[in-house]
Amino acid sequence: MKDWLKTLPKVELHLHIEGSLEPELMFALAKRNDITLPYASVEEVREAYDFDDLQSFLDLYYQGMAVLRTADDFFDLAMDYFRRAQAEGVVHVELSFDPQAHLARGIEMDVQIEGLTRAMRQAEREWGLSTALIMSFLRDRPAEEAMSVLERAGPYLELLDAVGLDSAERDNPPSKFAEVFARAKLLGLPRVAHAGEEGPAEYIRQALDVLDVCRIDHGVRCLEDPELAARLRDTQVPLTVCPLSNLRLKVVDDMRDHPLPGLLDAGLKLTINSDDPAYFGGGVLDNYLACHHAFDWNKDTFRGLARNAIEVAFMDEGRRRMLL
Ligand code: HPA
Ligand code: ZN
Repeated sequence: MKDWLKTLPKVELHLHIEGSLEPELMFALAKRNDITLPYASVEEVREAYDFDDLQSFLDLYYQGMAVLRTADDFFDLAMDYFRRAQAEGVVHVELSFDPQAHLARGIEMDVQIEGLTRAMRQAEREWGLSTALIMSFLRDRPAEEAMSVLERAGPYLELLDAVGLDSAERDNPPSKFAEVFARAKLLGLPRVAHAGEEGPAEYIRQALDVLDVCRIDHGVRCLEDPELAARLRDTQVPLTVCPLSNLRLKVVDDMRDHPLPGLLDAGLKLTINSDDPAYFGGGVLDNYLACHHAFDWNKDTFRGLARNAIEVAFMDEGRRRMLL
C-alpha cells in the first residue's frame, strides 16, 4: 500500500511553508545569518517538538522561523519542501505564508514574496509541480493589522491565489475579520480559513457566513453540529484535514479516534494534508499512511480523497483536466 500511495498523484492544499522548516535547514540558515539557536543539535530541536495543544506548537513555530531573513532563505525553505513533496508523489502544492510574523521581525513583504515565488517558478520548471500561494492573516493579532497587511500586498495581488486565516483559534472568531475578508473579496481574492480545529463548530459556520470562504482548513469539529455537517455535505465545501497535525496537537488522543471516518460517512468533501510537516512528523504521504494504518481504507477511498483535492485546488483548468 505504501508504494501505491506514493505513486498516487497527490495534491497538498493545507501547508504552512514556515512549518516545513526542517531542523537541518534551521541550523544551516542560523549559521548563514549568524543567529544563535536555543538548541545544541538537530536532535534537541526534534525532542522539543512535544506539544500539548496548538499554542504550545505556535510558540516554537514562530521562534523557528526567526532564521528566515533574506529572499534566498525563503527560496531555500520552499525548495527544500518542494523537493521532498515531489519525491513522495505530490503534484501540486498550495503553500500559505504568514507575512505578519515576518513583518514583525523587520522582514519586508517583497523579500518574503520574491523568495517564495522564485522557488514556485523553479519547482514548476524543475519537477513539473504546480503551485499556488495563500497569504494568511494571524487571527490572534488585531484585525486592523491584517487590513494593513492586505493593503501592503497591493503590488503583489496578481501573485496571490487566496487569503487565509490561521494561528491561535480559541477566542479569535472569524467574525473578527469580517471587514478584512470583505475587502479581500472586493479585490477578487478567494478566501479560506482555519476553523473547527480547536475552536467550536460555530467558527466554521462564521467562516462560511461572514468570511464567505470556499474551503475550511481543518473543520474536524463540524460533526458536533449536525445541521452544519448537513450543510457542508449539501454544499460540498471542502475540508482540508491534517490527521498527523490533529494527533500531535492533541485535537485527538489516538489516530483511531480521529473523526475522519465519521466525516467520510457524513458525505463531506475531504482532502488529506500535512499542515506543518517538519513539526508534526511527516508530509502528505505520511498523512495518507497514517490513515491507512488507522482506518484501513481501500484504494478507492484514497483515490477519492486525492481526486477531491484536485477538484478544489487553485489551479488552471488545463492542469486540472490533466490531473483528473
Ligand atoms: N493551526 C493554526 N495556525 C497555524 C497552524 C495550525 O495548525 N500551523 C501554522 N499556523
Ligand atoms: Zn494549518
